[in-house]
Formats: sequence, structure tokens, C-alpha cells
Amino acid sequence: MRKKISLIGAGQIGGTLAYIIANKELADVVLFDIDAGIAKGKALDIAQSTSVSGSDINLIGTDNYEDTKNSDVIIITAGIPRKPGMSRDDLLGTNLKIIKQVGENIQKTSPNAFVICITNPLDVIVMALQKYSGLTTNKVVGMAGILDSSRFKYFLSQELKVPVKNIESLVLGGHGDTMVPMPNYTKINGKPIEKLISKEKLDLIIERTRKGGGEISKLLKTGTAFYAPAAAGVEMAESYLKDLKKTLPCAAFLNGEFGVKNLYAGVPVIIGKNGVEKIVEIKLSIQEKNQLNLSVKAVQDLYQIAKKIDKNL
Ligand code: APR
Repeated sequence: MRKKISLIGAGQIGGTLAYIIANKELADVVLFDIDAGIAKGKALDIAQSTSVSGSDINLIGTDNYEDTKNSDVIIITAGIPRKPGMSRDDLLGTNLKIIKQVGENIQKTSPNAFVICITNPLDVIVMALQKYSGLTTNKVVGMAGILDSSRFKYFLSQELKVPVKNIESLVLGGHGDTMVPMPNYTKINGKPIEKLISKEKLDLIIERTRKGGGEISKLLKTGTAFYAPAAAGVEMAESYLKDLKKTLPCAAFLNGEFGVKNLYAGVPVIIGKNGVEKIVEIKLSIQEKNQLNLSVKAVQDLYQIAKKIDKNL
């Protein structure tokens, strides 16, 4: 039987997710939005593209959670995106309320799903979502590290004029300005990055990676990035549905790993048929450890603000 992916939020990222999933024939798609017109319109448009692509999947749009019942995977983008000049953290109040509603509905309709959250501010929203949905922590995960790493890889590939596929890299920590690109785990054709680029250039690329979302939001003016976030979300869903056991940087629940307890943050994890099957505890230098701690502290501080907004968190 074909798998079922429900997309909660049919905006820019939700629509792109549906389009990629349909073209890959990864699963049937339910596109859900509080705005039924957007969900139904995009579903119809993408469904009509399958006669060109030849993809054999079902795709519907809806504003009724019953239609998402028993999903294998749920990807959440419901919420508001940043406007130019806003930080991801500025979205907290509004998106927390939306995520509460989404989490409670997932608990009722798809308690066995693998849930990928994309809504920002990512680390705090995914932590709240896990609590609101009551799903186990291995089944609730946040998309950020793949996107941040892919931005880092892209900038390196442009600077060094090598194909992105020849670059291995990793970005850890929270999905914000304190994220931690990891030069020690970055290799070009298997060679350490430090041997191929000056420190000044690498520092500039790291800074551009940290501000990667803001750069796009400034250019777009009315929203923020959506193609790369959607591509990253699909990679996570595919690793789960096909039990690929890929090691991917994701926002996962830490219970002592990397010295962090009871918090979501970006770390390498193995995603397979059981969801987050393992947190891969790579060795960090003292400097990397300090940067990760700083990033984790930023997530912790924002979670304290979330707890003031909703005392039940
Ligand atoms: N339930 C379902 N959908 C909702 C709800 C809700 N309670 N509230 C809002 N939405 C829908 C909106 O109607 C809109 O169609 O969420 C969609 C969000 O789409 P966009 O505004 O286009 O935002 P997008 O660019 O897709 O980003 C979504 O992901 O990366 C993050 O920062 C980004 O938080 C933002 C989210």
C-alpha cells in the first residue's frame, strides 16, 4: 500500500513539499491548511502536473484533519514566516499558538506518524510540538541542519569552484544566528577544508551561512526561503519511509547527548523506520563545544520565554 504524507500548512514550503513528493512518487499527499482554498487550489494544480510527469499518486487539499488520519509522515509548516528585518524568534508568540492546535490534532488523528517540523523558531517550536502532540521524542524531529549544511556547502562550492556533491559538511546547534558550522567535519573530495581555503574566506562563508535565511528574506520581501527547506524536509521523510538510515543533521531531543539534557537542538541523527534511531555523538573540539553550548543556551533562553507564554509547556 502507498504511504501517506500529510503536509500541515500549504503555503510556500507546504506547496513545494507537495510538488517534490508528487514528482518523486514518494507517497500520497494530503495538503492541509486553515485556508481551504489554498490547500485545494495547490493540490489541484500539482495533481494536474502529474499527467505530465507521469507520477502515480493521489493528492488532495483540505481544511479537515480527518483527511490526514493515519498518516505515515506529517510535515508541519503551519505558521507565519519572517518579514525582512525580523528574526526567527520574533515569530514565537504567533507560531506557538498555531503549533498547539496542530499538535493536539496530530495526537487525535495520526498518533503513530513520524512528524517533521519546519515552522520557526524551529528548535523551540519542535520541542513544544512534541509536548502538545504527546508523541514519543524519536517520532518528532525538526528540519534545520540539512538546510543550514546545504547552504554552507553551496557557498563553499561557489568559492572553490567544485560541485556541491563533492562536499561533505555539517552544521550543528540551533537554527538561528548561533548555529555552528563545523569546518573540522567539512571535506572537499575527502580533503580537510582548512587546507583549501583561507581562514578569512571561511569565516565570511560561515557568517553568510548563519544569515542565509535572512539574505533570502531580504530579497524576497514578502516571505522567506522555500525551495531548499522543502528539499531538506523531503530527504528526512524519505529516509524514514524507506528505512535508509541516513545520518542527517536534524533538531532532535537530547537526553544527555553532547552534554545537553531535556532540549531539542541540531545534531547528527540516524533516521530509519523507527524515526530517530540514534544520535551520533561526534567528537567536538573545545571551540566547537563552546559554540554548541552558546547555541544551546540561546534555545534554552527562548524556551523559557515560550514557557511564559504557555505555562503548560
Ligand atoms: N493550521 C494550518 N495551517 C495554518 C495555520 C493553522 N493553524 N495557521 C496558518 N497556517 C498556514 C497559512 O494559512 C499559510 O498557508 O500556514 C501557511 C504558511 O505558509 P507561508 O506563509 O507561505 O509560510 P512558509 O514560507 O511556507 O513558511 C512556513 O516555516 O520555515 C518556516 O519561518 C517559516 O514559520 C514559517 C514556516
